[in-house]
Amino acid sequence: MDRNAPIGVFDSGVGGLTVAREIIRQMPDERIIYFGDTARVPYGSKSRDTVIRYSRQIIRFLLTKNVKAIVIACNTASAYALDTVEKEFALPVIGVIRAGALTAVNATHNGKIGVIGTEGTIGSGIYTEVIKQMDPRVQVTGKACPLFVPLVEEGLLHDSVTDEIASRYLSELKGKFIDTLVLGCTHYPLLRSTVGRIMGGDVTLVNPAYETAIELKALLAERDLNCEAGQAEKDPEKYQFYVSDLAEKFTAFATSILPKQVKETRKIDIERY
Ligand code: DGL
Repeated sequence: MDRNAPIGVFDSGVGGLTVAREIIRQMPDERIIYFGDTARVPYGSKSRDTVIRYSRQIIRFLLTKNVKAIVIACNTASAYALDTVEKEFALPVIGVIRAGALTAVNATHNGKIGVIGTEGTIGSGIYTEVIKQMDPRVQVTGKACPLFVPLVEEGLLHDSVTDEIASRYLSELKGKFIDTLVLGCTHYPLLRSTVGRIMGGDVTLVNPAYETAIELKALLAERDLNCEAGQAEKDPEKYQFYVSDLAEKFTAFATSILPKQVKETRKIDIERY
């Protein structure tokens, strides 16, 4: 495996950019190939089998770019597909759920953690399972927020419609006395200010992206796969972006949340893979 090869990162759409942003921040010497499945978003309301099929196709595509490791920057795909694909492909694959669970367990003082995510992630019960393995005393309350992903994909990050929907979803969690809330969908950190305002300053918001980047860094170091300093800078396309639809819309969105301007996004036919 070439240590200077890029890292593959994927999500159903723009949400995984919150993870890519953290990888760029913590590992500036790495190259990244990002794929957003914008033609088939949302994953959160699809079946396990469908999300596994999509994940396999995306990993096959990323392998054509010779990636050295894959980050499933999507909670739904991590919940449904990580266990399957990590056995099928001969390269390191990590998801975001373990990282989010660990940060939450370390952050809670009263042992009451809330998790918000897609219907798929919350319905799978994966956060409860992983958190309970880490600390069986913790109580976990999950709440699916299915309208958050389309709101983010539409760019309605600061909008009265988003406030209204968020208030309704989160009112259920407010009575549970949680002191920590996991943003268990990679789209949700983009709604952080809205969620934080509604939950109040006493609730710690956990963005699993931070811990995921730490886990990735440790994994690459353990396997001697960290890019050599300065190598990535020689690549004029250090960060490459691919989508399955609406490339221009993605480019504008990615530029608004990443530290560097995204010049181009390429559209590919993911069904070929
Ligand atoms: N951003 C993804 C997640 O973390 C998926 C959202 C969706 O496609 O429904 O779950």
